[in-house]
Amino acid sequence: MERVFVTRNLPGNALDTLREAGYEVDVWPDFLAPPRKALLERVRGAAALITMLEDRVDAELMDAAGPGLKVISQYAVGLDNIDLEAARSRGIVVTHTPGVLTNATADLAFALLAAAARRVVEGHRYVQAGEWKTWHPELLLGPELHGATVGVVGFGRIGQAFARRARGFDMKVLYTSRQPRPDAEAELGAERVELGELLERADFVSLHTPLTPETLHLMNAERLAQMKEGAVLVNTARGKVVDTAALLEALERGPLFAAGLDVTDPEPLPADHPLLSHPRVVVTPHIGSAGRATRLRMAEMVTGDVLAVLRRQEPHFPAP
Ligand code: DGY
Repeated sequence: MERVFVTRNLPGNALDTLREAGYEVDVWPDFLAPPRKALLERVRGAAALITMLEDRVDAELMDAAGPGLKVISQYAVGLDNIDLEAARSRGIVVTHTPGVLTNATADLAFALLAAAARRVVEGHRYVQAGEWKTWHPELLLGPELHGATVGVVGFGRIGQAFARRARGFDMKVLYTSRQPRPDAEAELGAERVELGELLERADFVSLHTPLTPETLHLMNAERLAQMKEGAVLVNTARGKVVDTAALLEALERGPLFAAGLDVTDPEPLPADHPLLSHPRVVVTPHIGSAGRATRLRMAEMVTGDVLAVLRRQEPHFPAP
């Protein structure tokens, strides 16, 4: 019986479709990721792997699985933890979950923008600490959302969905992208500019790029210093797109007013990390795609593609 190793339990019943189709489904039982040694042992002899963004899927892991490994199905759209070249050269198909998580991730990015700008978490802590004694004209002022200019860095599916939400708040949308997006420009009135100009003009900047060698520390000290005084940075892409030390500096000494982060570097962020002691940094634990229906659909996508490849059919969602 061919074996599918799944590095974390998935929501819903999608794994049952693999069992019903006659495959042995071996699920890592813990909430935490399998340690490297355990991972290398558990993949041995597997025909398929269902992986998460915390698993380092490299040549060593593929070789540990052995020549029977046919498909790696990633439960995420991002593939930066997978050595795609190593998979290609071994004839292993890689699939992922594009599209389905676009709206859930854009929703969370906008929630972080609103929470960071309008000091929602800071306000909650203030009330919790018993400091709410009166209404005051100067209490917890923050930048206005409506009518602001938002800069969207990376204008793929998620960047555009985020821009659609920003338009609902009457924001002017600037974007960077390798290619112009005339359809989105027409729909959203968005203006394509160079990154430097976007940083200088935007009140809010939201990151939506994949992590690649080109986007590693894209937001470094120099770029953060180019941002407008009082700007807010939102990151729901990958933590390493931002240089954390430079971000802290920009929050402490300006120009940044606040940041909303669903992804961090390091990730997970330890509870005593200096980012968490900044009053206007809002951090969520990489839950951009954590809409219930989205996560169920992602489970169907990965199991569907495992089945397709093991049955020698074309996968629906191959890695680009
Ligand atoms: C992704 O899909 O890449 C997200 O980061 C997790 O869903």
